[in-house]
Formats: sequence, C-alpha cells, structure tokens
Amino acid sequence: MTTRLGALRAEYLSGLRAYLEDESEVGLACAYELGRRAMMERLGLLDMAALHRAALDTLVLPATPSDQPRLMEASTAFFNELLAPFELSIEGYRAALAASEERFQLAVSGAMAGLWDWDPQTDEIFFSPHFKRIMGYEDSELPNERQAHFGAIDAQDFERVTQSLKAHLELRTPYDVEYRIRTKSGDVRWVHSRGQALWNEAGVPYRMVGWILDITERKRDDEALRMSREELRRLSAHIQHVREEEKARIARELHDDLGQQLTALKMAASLLEHGTGDGRGRPNREALNGIYMMIDDLVQSVRHIAADLHPVILDDLGLIPAIDNLADEFSARYAIRVIRHIDPDAISFNRECRIGMFRMVQEALTNVARHSGASEVILDIVRADPHCIVRIVDNGRGVAAEGPKGRHSFGLLGMRERAALLGGEIRISTEPGAGFALTAILPLSAVEAKDAG
Ligand SMILES: Nc1ncnc2c1ncn2[C@@H]1O[C@H](COP(=O)(O)OP(=O)(O)OP(=O)(O)O)[C@@H](O)[C@H]1O
Ligand SMILES: [Mg+2]
Repeated sequence: MTTRLGALRAEYLSGLRAYLEDESEVGLACAYELGRRAMMERLGLLDMAALHRAALDTLVLPATPSDQPRLMEASTAFFNELLAPFELSIEGYRAALAASEERFQLAVSGAMAGLWDWDPQTDEIFFSPHFKRIMGYEDSELPNERQAHFGAIDAQDFERVTQSLKAHLELRTPYDVEYRIRTKSGDVRWVHSRGQALWNEAGVPYRMVGWILDITERKRDDEALRMSREELRRLSAHIQHVREEEKARIARELHDDLGQQLTALKMAASLLEHGTGDGRGRPNREALNGIYMMIDDLVQSVRHIAADLHPVILDDLGLIPAIDNLADEFSARYAIRVIRHIDPDAISFNRECRIGMFRMVQEALTNVARHSGASEVILDIVRADPHCIVRIVDNGRGVAAEGPKGRHSFGLLGMRERAALLGGEIRISTEPGAGFALTAILPLSAVEAKDAG
C-alpha cells in the first residue's frame, strides 16, 4: 500500500466513523473532499473500493445485527459521496469525448469524405458507408475487401495509385492522389484520396487510415476552364492573324486598285495638258469627262475600302439602318431572301454595343452564305424585357448540333465572346436538314442607351 493510500485510509475510517454517529451533511462533505483528493493523487476506483471494504470490516461488521442495516445504508451513502468526484470527471470526459466524436463526424460528413481503414499485414479493410456511396453502392452491397475498390480504379490511373501507395508504405512519402473510379452504374467519377500509415518499432506498417472525396465536379470545372483558356488562346492568335491579313488586303487594294486608278488619272491629266484643246483655250471635253469618271471610280473604291473597315453608316444612321443595309447587300449578292422582323423604335441602341451587334449579324449571315445553302433567312431583332433578342434562322441544310468543331472555326467563338462582353449569350439550335437557328440573348441594360425611356 502506498503512503498516500495509507494516509487516506486513516482519514476515511475516521470520517466514516463520525458520519455513522450523526449522518450529518458535514460528514458527507468530508467524504466528497476525500474523493476529490484521491483523484488529485491519481488513485483509482479500485483503490476506493478497497478503502471502503476495509472501513466496513472495522466499523460495520462488529456491530450488532440489528444495527447493521442502518450502518450499511449510511456507509453506502458516504461511499457514494466519495465516488462523486470520480463520476463527475468521468461524465466530463464522456461529454468531451462525445463532443470531439461529434466534431469528427461533422468534419467527415461535412466534407463528404468516405473513410477507409486498412491493415497492410492482414489486408483487412473497412470502408465507411459514405465511401461505398461515393462508389455508387449501399453499405451492404460492397464487401470490405481491398479489391472491391482497387478493381474499380480506372486502368489509366491504376499504376499511379499503386506506386503512390507503395512509396508511402516504404519511403513514407505523402499518400495524396487523384484518380478515376468506375461506379456501380458504370459512370466514371474522379476521387481525391489521402491516407496516413502507422509503422511499428520495426518500421513495419500495421495500419493505414484515409479518406476519399468525390471531386468530379471540380475536375469538370477544371477541364472546362482549360478548354476555354485554350479556345481563348487560339482566338487571340487568330485575331493577330486576321489583323495581319487585313493589313495585307488593304495594302493590296490600295496598291492594285487605288494605285492603278491614280496612275491612269495621272496619264489622263498629262494627255489633257499636252493634247489638243478646242481651239479656244479650253480643255478637250471628252478627255475631261474621262477624268471625272476616273475620279468617281476612285471615290467608290475609297468608300468600299472604308466601309469594309468600319461601316460608317453605323455612326451616321445607327445600328438598325446599318443592319438593313447589310441585309439588302447580302440578298442582292447571294440571292437569299432576308425576311426582317425589326421594330426600329423598340430599342434605342447605345454607341458602345453597335459594332459588336453588327459584327454578330454579319458573321451569322456570312455563315448562312458559306455553309447553309439556304434560300431564305429570317432576321428578328426584338425587345423581350429584360432582354434584346437577335435571332437569325435559315432554312438550309443545318449541321449536327454536337458535330466536330473545326479547329479553325472562329466565327461562332467570336460571336460568343462578343455576346459575353455584353453580358449575354448565344444559343444555337440546328439539326441536319433542319436549318440553323442562332439566337443572341443580350441584356437590355447593356445595349440600350442610358437616356432611353
Ligand atoms: N447557317 C449555318 N448552316 C449550317 N452550318 C453552319 C451554319 N453556321 C455555322 N455552321 C457550322 O458551324 C461551323 C462553325 O462556324 P464558324 O462561323 O465558327 O466557323 P467557320 O464559318 O467554319 O469559319 P470562320 O472562322 O471563318 O467563321 C461551320 O464550320 C459550319 O459547319
Ligand atoms: Mg463563320
């Protein structure tokens, strides 16, 4: 018996003796205090039982049989009071444990992680119900066997996962991998898996615990982001290319068209200077008319080049007249009727959106001419609060909606970018043999002039 326990034993004996005499509250308080001290001194419940047993032997056993029941009852009350601090502290531990268990469960379920717990020596494994749910199974449907999960890992990722696991167990590098699994329904889903092994003193792993998380949505978002970055990169390269081509075309037109016409004009002027007049000092009328015609042609050419670069009519008359003009020229050039449903007064377009909207309609009509073989196009520009709807529908051959996107097709991509810049979007509806319908849905707040009513 330790000296601590010996001292306590004497105190317990005298405390209980006093209590058996008067059964006072003070006596019970003394028992509680003894219990508290015993706990502080790290004595256990078995020590307390031994203490009590010895006290009973001394104080209750020798009593007369008629006194014994009362003495037993009072001793039990005293003993219970001694145990009270122990009970309170166990309760405290329990509450703390329950709280921490709850926090753990919350963390796990909040993170939607599926747990696994594996013994690398026996190969026994436990999958939590949520782990199995991630794989598409109910708890009872998937056995707790390693192969049940390993067999579902996508062949492209299998080697990487097993290598990572091996490296963790042998070299203690972090086990943190992302891989694809085939679920019960045959879908492929991405999971993120992390785990931590425990090694014994001989360095042998005896347990490994970890979790998996379904990251399919994040992977999809990543992929969409990567694709859109790639598209943007191609688009910007394309824009550079188009700009260079445009410069080359303008240079060619200036050189071939304007250059030649100006040379001809210069020759005509020279002829006029050295040629014969009408005898009265005035220039030859015919030669002069020829020069005027050349100047008219020059003006025409300059207008064409300028209109190609930027439709001046947009600034002078506004978006709707410019689109009307575009549709007229398109009809005349390709013999495709353009039926218009446009209320010119429904929307007062602001200056900033004009060129973007004009280019969208221009690209859509160019596509009709290039790809559709249509005989008719319906062009609607309507107000449908809170949107402005621009719809271009042809009766041509259409195309498979999910058909392969040409690596060098930028028209639709550019349109989507223009629509997105205005806070809107492009929708396409088409099928082989059923025409092509393109709709731009643009917020009025972005296209309407601020002072419009
Ligand atoms: N009106 C239409 N009718 C049928 N197919 C169309 C129509 N408009 C577009 N397409 C299809 O959509 C594809 C993509 O069009 P997009 O304008 O992006 O590229 P493109 O016209 O081929 O090339 P560009 O980059 O010069 O515009 C076209 O190649 C064509 O197959
Ligand atoms: Mg195009």
